[in-house]
Amino acid sequence: MSLGGPLVKIVRTASGAARLCRAPGSVGPLVLVPTMGALHAGHLSLIRKARKLAGPKGTVAVSIFVNPTQFGPKEDFSRYPRPFARDCRLCRDAGVDIVFQPSPQEMYPERYSTYVNEELVSLPLCGKSRPGHFRGVCTVVLKLFNIVGPDIAVFGMKDYQQVAVIRRMTRDLNVPVRIVAAPTVREADGLALSSRNAYLSAEARAQAPVIRRALLLARDAGTVKTAALEKLVRREIGTASLARIDYIEALDADTLEEPGPETGQLLIACAVYFGNTRLIDNILIPYARI
Ligand code: PAJ
Repeated sequence: MSLGGPLVKIVRTASGAARLCRAPGSVGPLVLVPTMGALHAGHLSLIRKARKLAGPKGTVAVSIFVNPTQFGPKEDFSRYPRPFARDCRLCRDAGVDIVFQPSPQEMYPERYSTYVNEELVSLPLCGKSRPGHFRGVCTVVLKLFNIVGPDIAVFGMKDYQQVAVIRRMTRDLNVPVRIVAAPTVREADGLALSSRNAYLSAEARAQAPVIRRALLLARDAGTVKTAALEKLVRREIGTASLARIDYIEALDADTLEEPGPETGQLLIACAVYFGNTRLIDNILIPYARI
């Protein structure tokens, strides 16, 4: 039986991770939580969910890898926080069995030349403002799935489009893994937890909850007209002097296309800059409610 807790094993090579994760005689599901580290309460809620899904006999693996291929040339790859010892302690205390922390060379050896492109769900929203981002995400996530071989993988709804892209990729490429999405963990004032919140100035941090307030206003506006919803969110976020809107869009939550007769839920997603820090958030609302 896997006890987790103090027995967390740390592994840095793909072959080591494969050996550990698929250890002979292991029973119960193997559940993977992919992360880039700098763990916060959002990540920890995913780990708790993974622990529940794995059950007492199953195995929880957490990967920690700041994936260079999903960062644009002007993005924060080099300054992305890497508090590895602290992350390991948090994993241990959360009952994680295996931490996989590969080096960039391990994941992308010399002459690395193979990438995964999802070409529909990746197009709108962050796909537009971060060209190549989802190519990097799909590539690293498929590699992690191939290395670890999880039965289940847990992702956060905070990155809604990421979950949608990964669901589509695993369906299209017949990857035998169940994708589970976990709710967004927030600060008391509504700001979604993110490793990037640490970059905010005090003034920006004080204004940032406007994003959540705007999305809640849209949810409660009593309309599903996308133009009206987008306008409402734009106007509310515009009241914050430091906010610079990247995008606000309302789309079919399943396909991330324009809503149509088949639409069951509407996704309102936005990305907003405060200084150089780009924050994203989203909300789901029933489509055919009026
Ligand atoms: P990272 O940003 O570290 O996030 C790891 C996981 O934690 C993602 O599934 C993300 O959606 C989730 N998460 C982040 N903030 C959250 C919050 N406030 N509440 C709930 N869940 C939250 O997302 C990535 O890393 C990378 O793109 C990765 C999938 C690891 C591929 O490199």
